[in-house]
Formats: sequence, C-alpha cells, structure tokens
Amino acid sequence: MSTLAIDAPQEQQFIELIQQTIQAQQFERLILSQYQGSEVELEKITFRLVELQQHTKLSALYHYKTKDVTKNYELNESIYVIQALIPLCKQSNLFALNVEAQLKKNKKKAMLNIQQLSPQASNHPKPTQQHNREKERFVDQASPFLQYLGITENNGKVIPAMARKWKQINKFIEIFSHAYEQIDLNKDQIKIVDFGSGKGYLTFALYDYLQQQTNTQPVITGVELRSNLVEFCEDVAAKAGFDQLDFFEGDVRTYQTNDLDVMIALHACDIATDFAIHTGIRLNASMIMCAPCCHKELRPQLHSPAVLKPMLQFGIHAGQQAEMLTDSLRALLLKAYGYEVKVFEFVSLEHTSKNKMILATKRKEIDQPDAQILQQIQALKQMYGIEKQTLELLLNDQIAIENVGCKC
Ligand SMILES: C[S@@+](CC[C@H](N)C(=O)[O-])C[C@H]1O[C@@H](n2cnc3c(N)ncnc32)[C@H](O)[C@@H]1O
Repeated sequence: MSTLAIDAPQEQQFIELIQQTIQAQQFERLILSQYQGSEVELEKITFRLVELQQHTKLSALYHYKTKDVTKNYELNESIYVIQALIPLCKQSNLFALNVEAQLKKNKKKAMLNIQQLSPQASNHPKPTQQHNREKERFVDQASPFLQYLGITENNGKVIPAMARKWKQINKFIEIFSHAYEQIDLNKDQIKIVDFGSGKGYLTFALYDYLQQQTNTQPVITGVELRSNLVEFCEDVAAKAGFDQLDFFEGDVRTYQTNDLDVMIALHACDIATDFAIHTGIRLNASMIMCAPCCHKELRPQLHSPAVLKPMLQFGIHAGQQAEMLTDSLRALLLKAYGYEVKVFEFVSLEHTSKNKMILATKRKEIDQPDAQILQQIQALKQMYGIEKQTLELLLNDQIAIENVGCKC
C-alpha cells in the first residue's frame, strides 16, 4: 500500500462536484482507479446510476483482479462511500453531461482538472431530449438484446448512465458498416472473432446489425478471459436467440482458429492487441479493426533521440510518444502485409479516453512483406531504441509468451 498526496481542498471540490452532478441529474459515471488501499486484489471501482424498483441508486462495480462485485447504494449514503474511497485511489474521473473532471495524485501532489462541457461542444443529449435523438441511431433501440445488456429499459429508452456506451456502439457499427461495404466478401456467412469481448456490448450490436441489415449470416465468437463475463454473454445470446454467437473463455494469446473474415479487438489490453492483429494477418482477414488500449510495452524501452529530449523529459509526453509509436508500428506492419490502413478518432475524447481506432482492410495478396515499409519500421525503432515489439516478433515467429494480465 503506497502513500498518496493528500490535498483536502481539491478532493473536497471534486466530491462536491460529484454531489452536484448527481443532484442535477447530470451524473453519468465515476471511475476510481489505481486503488492503493488495503484490499489487495481491488483495482478500480466504477459508479453509475441505476433504476431499481423505481428508485434511483448508485451502483458500484468493484473490479478485482479475478472477479467483479456489484453493490448498490442509496444516493444519500453513496457520497460517504465515494468520500472514503477517493483518498485511496491515485486517479478519479468524473463524467457528467455538463462537466468532466479528473483528480490525479502521486506521492507529492494532487491535481484537479475540470472541463465544463457546453451543450453544443459536448453534443450530449439532455436526458429528456434523448428519446428523439435515438431515431438517428444505427442500431435499433427497440432490440431486446439492448435490454438484456442493461443499455435500455423495458420501455426501450436508453438508461441515462449508458448514454455514452450507446453512442459508442452506434459509432462503432457506423464505422464497421462503411468499411464492410469496401471489402470484397461474397459469402453467405461471415466469420468474426472479437478479441477481449468484455461484456459484449459491441459484439451483440455487430451480430444484430449483420443479421438485420445485410444478406450475410454472421458467425461470431467473443474471446474473453473473465469467466463471469463469458457466462453473462452466453446467457444474453441465448435469450436474444443469437444462435451463431458464442463466447470462448480464454486468452487472446492462445486462442486458436483456422478461419476468420473479420478480426475485431476493441480495448483489448496492451499486447493482447498485437496477438489479435497477428491472428488477423496470419488468417488473411479481410478486415482488422482495433482500438488499442493501455500501451505498456514500448514505454520502458523508449530512449529519447537527442533533439526530442527537451520535449520527452515530461512524462506525459513520453507516454504519448510511446503510445503513438506503438500504434504507428502496428499500422505500418499492417501496411507491409498488404492492408490499407486508417488511424483515426473512434469517438470524441469526451466519450472515452480510449478513442483511437486502427482500421485495416485487405488490399492485396502478398508474397513478401513490403521491404520499404519494413525499413521505415526499423528506422523508427532505432531512433527510439526499441528492441522488441510484440506484433513484429509474432510476424517473424520470434515470440516467447509473457504475462499480459490486464491492469487497466
Ligand atoms: C476494456 S474491456 C473492452 C471490452 C469490449 N471489447 C468493449 O470495447 O466494450 C477489455 C476486455 O478484454 C479482456 N482481456 C484483456 N486481456 C485479455 C486477454 N489476454 N485475453 C482475453 N481477454 C482479455 C478483459 O478481461 C476485458 O474484459
């Protein structure tokens, strides 16, 4: 257990802000991460509003290393729970319709960053406006699977606390559908693997979209480490009657398949993304779609080139540089292996911090990877002193499997 800086006024201001957003019905989500308290296995806690027997409560999801535990609190008691937890967490993020705030602490100091969101800039629907806006959406809001996943209520309205997820799902299907039109796939069935499928929000939406709006029967497998999520998703798939959607409990690194048309990995942690991309390239996927997350591999290897030292002396810049370098190497490797690649913002920063997408569509068959691009990769690695990048090692058959347990 480490000691964190105590900055009572900043913490107090942050807690008051949480209280205000709850009272003003603007609250969406609170994430308390990098927990440093006495519960050894506890990693982070996510709070959101839920309606239970016509009462609004604050539901807390305690994420432990190997399990998740949910506790629901009355609104008036919840603030005491939050108050007790915030001092034990290195980072706290509040997402509300009108404001976003981050409280970050290290041993020396605490920093509070508050960003007011104007209605125009935030593009958030007010809860009361939400119903009309849903008509523009890509996924049918009335689909029962949304209810089973806890996104809509039984009257088909999006639960306010799930508004961001709902927006993300629609954006994802929109991007997928545009890319899908570009690829050359004339098949009765399309085989998709979703690596790190989590609670399956995007997996189910994709299945529903393909089944309802295309002539192709989807056959989708979600691969997920956590047994409770696999069980949950299998249960929802059965209830929704999605009989060609299944979930495999296991590690992305060791999942075996001989055939896939589309590889998806959205927020699969760290080098799990590299294993997933490698499977896509190895099996000649027509489309590879990933939103990388928690880039950890290159940061400790990164040496600043002399001219960049003044810029990269700041830890945040070095982190951003390592992230950009990781995703650039991934994108370049995809290009070298015959893919057309786009790297872009998946949803605006307001909706999630994990917002970058690498979208690759197969352009041509190759005998050998493009030598010129491989040279560009070597030059970049050399410039930053990078010895090892998992996707490259996998493509060169040089990998030794290491622990990629998710801590994000
Ligand atoms: C941040 S969640 C994303 C879930 C979903 N793809 C989405 O975007 O909504 C990442 C999920 O990947 C899973 N995961 C992380 N590393 C994994 C691995 N090596 N193998 C299988 N699943 C993994 C985690 O358990 C977690 O459920």
